[in-house]
Amino acid sequence: MNSAPIAIYDSGLGGLTVWREVRRALPGESLLYLGDGKNCPYGSRPREEIVRLADEAVAALVARGCKLVVVACNTATAAAIDFLRGKYAPMPIVGMEPAVKPACLATRSGVVGVLATERSLDGDLFRRTAALYGRGIEVVTAPGRGFVELVESDREATPEAEECVRRAVEPMLERGADQIVLGCTHYPFLLPVLERIVAGRGVAIVDPSPAVARRVAELLDRYGLRAAADHVPACEFLTFADEAYRSRLELKAMGSRG
Ligand code: DGL
Repeated sequence: MNSAPIAIYDSGLGGLTVWREVRRALPGESLLYLGDGKNCPYGSRPREEIVRLADEAVAALVARGCKLVVVACNTATAAAIDFLRGKYAPMPIVGMEPAVKPACLATRSGVVGVLATERSLDGDLFRRTAALYGRGIEVVTAPGRGFVELVESDREATPEAEECVRRAVEPMLERGADQIVLGCTHYPFLLPVLERIVAGRGVAIVDPSPAVARRVAELLDRYGLRAAADHVPACEFLTFADEAYRSRLELKAMGSRG
């Protein structure tokens, strides 16, 4: 039994899409969310720099006494998960899996689209997963250029966002993709726009965050880390940016509780 918080970390607001699922799956747990904010976006930074930023973030969360860390950022997972697991062992660290496996298992057209940041798409994790599950399947990738910036500036529901998402997705649809994987935790905020674009085309959108929340629950059970039954859960929000950004995190989290 352990009532310390579960920590969830992202470059910015995107990891709130994972926070929301963890909250739903584990309502009795305290959550500590860190949205870097100061260094966002991570997506096209060099790998070494992302490792350093992720290390600073996890160190700050460990200093706050968390019992498990979710790296709710595909880009940081791709660049730094092995490093973090090595450095902070035995604390469990959960990363984002590119949801290529379920998409490849579900496709009927044999074409799967993957949207992610540049650094995630050129990482080993994505290459290995695509090679393992994508045999005989055409995996069409596209970096979501501008997507993170749209979400970070609360412009995810604008015509500009629709135009930007359409530009990335249209070539996948033309190839015949019937599954589109959201390989960046910011992208589920663009779901209403994305659903409008694919409407009527028989396309499923795959968001890995519910599976990540299930994985967190499994690890809590495996290591005996569930909060006590009488624990009163609390949610706290941290950032490396300023107070205005921190309160935006909190507002966006509460608004997306769903
Ligand atoms: N939300 C992040 C991800 O899942 C990072 C996006 C960024 O900072 O570029 O990849």
